[in-house]
Amino acid sequence: MKINSIRFKASILYTSILCVILVVFSGVLFYLTALILYGDVDERLRLKATAVADILKSYEDLRKTPVTPQDLINRLLGIDDPSLMILENLWRSDIKALRLQEDYFFILNGYGMPVIRSENLDKNMEDLFKTQLPINFSGMFFKDIKNEKQRLRAINLPFSLSHRNLLVIQLATPLDFVIAILQKLMYFMAASVLFILGLTSFLGGFFARSILKPVLNVIKTADDISHTDLNLRIQETEGDEEMKRLIRSFNAMIERLEKSFAHVNEFSSHVAHELKTPIAIIRGEMELALSEPRETREYERVMQVCLQEIDRLTRIIRDLLLQARLDYNLEVFRFEEINLVEFIREMHEHSQILADEKKISADLKLPGIRQVPVKADKTHLRRLFLNLITNAITYTPEGGRIGIELTLAENQAQVAISDTGIGISEENLTKIFDKFFRAHKGGDDPVPGTGLGLSIARSIVRAHQGTITVQSRINEGSVFTVILPLA
Ligand SMILES: Nc1ncnc2c1ncn2[C@@H]1O[C@H](COP(=O)(O)OP(=O)(O)OP(=O)(O)O)[C@@H](O)[C@H]1O
Ligand SMILES: [Mg+2]
Repeated sequence: MKINSIRFKASILYTSILCVILVVFSGVLFYLTALILYGDVDERLRLKATAVADILKSYEDLRKTPVTPQDLINRLLGIDDPSLMILENLWRSDIKALRLQEDYFFILNGYGMPVIRSENLDKNMEDLFKTQLPINFSGMFFKDIKNEKQRLRAINLPFSLSHRNLLVIQLATPLDFVIAILQKLMYFMAASVLFILGLTSFLGGFFARSILKPVLNVIKTADDISHTDLNLRIQETEGDEEMKRLIRSFNAMIERLEKSFAHVNEFSSHVAHELKTPIAIIRGEMELALSEPRETREYERVMQVCLQEIDRLTRIIRDLLLQARLDYNLEVFRFEEINLVEFIREMHEHSQILADEKKISADLKLPGIRQVPVKADKTHLRRLFLNLITNAITYTPEGGRIGIELTLAENQAQVAISDTGIGISEENLTKIFDKFFRAHKGGDDPVPGTGLGLSIARSIVRAHQGTITVQSRINEGSVFTVILPLA
């Protein structure tokens, strides 16, 4: 798996997110467990310390008269009155019942002097109590104390006997079992986190591979496609919607490529054909002229034909070059602000000269206002409208009418070139802007032309951020509408 592959990134991302979640979750679990265990230990410490204090208080009740704590303790320990040895026995059995074997405790008097200590309390432990557990007669508190060997939890609980002399009990219990539980929990959680992470990264990689499998299919098909088999399509698989969309867009893209490839193919064969025809004519005429001696007039005729055909060739090549320049190089345009009213009026004058030759009338309709500013390249705009006007005149029989109309819409100027000519069939309407397409060629009297005029017109309109549309009916006429944005 490569480091910069989606599969790797996805599994790393999911594993990292899961890792953070698991670590946070484990941390919270660990903290809560420790809190509960400590709470439990503290509660037990409190109960034991209170029980020890209660035992002492109950002994005092055995005596009818109040005594000082020291008296009581002395007696408890059987120091001053052997007859009270019974108290000591009682003490031992009561303390035993409390199961304090593991715990260490001190009972200190008001001066902080120890008056009772548990039997297991050695020197080390006494030092630990003295150094780490402050004596406090005003309130109960808990504290962790520890030395190199042990860690304990301790309570400081003040209490008083009936004569109100204060005593304090300090009781500590080892935390061994709490630490053991927490340690085990930590090991268990670490192992679980590692196991879950390992499992998810494995499963993540596995699922990512199965999710991305269609992508590999797309890659394979894309690798296989060359210009000769643009008909290949990727099989749409059942599964993820995104994948289906990717495959659909990819197939649509290949289809568009296939179409434009076919278009380019068709276009080049058109070009070849268009260029071949005049060359064949020139060749034929010349061969015929040279096949036997001829009169000067005949040679002149052949030369005339050749010249015409050479003109035709030159025009095709010039138009093709112009078209290529218009489509791929916007720098050929020199935009300036022009007044469309004046410009259209000028176009109308030209069209009248052309139309007159064919006895066609040319009408003009302008809007009320005198200024309609547009940003345009005058030379190319002239070429655009001349192409449309020449078409209108060419494809309108004698005695017909053409019209040039300028109207204004919101932020747009609209120029309609209409005619009462032969019209264009619905089928051909979509094709007339294609290069070399000619709807009315052939027949006895073919209209001359190369079929590049409208294609060039469309390129010019596009370069001006405008649109060109056509409406037409066979034998009724056509209207070409150019819309240009106002400056
Ligand atoms: N006003 C019109 N009325 C009827 N048909 C038209 C009109 N304008 C264009 N056409 C059809 O559209 C075709 C393409 O026009 P286009 O101007 O691109 O080429 P052309 O006029 O044949 O040749 P040229 O490149 O010399 O202009 C024409 O051959 C013609 O069949
Ligand atoms: Mg034309």
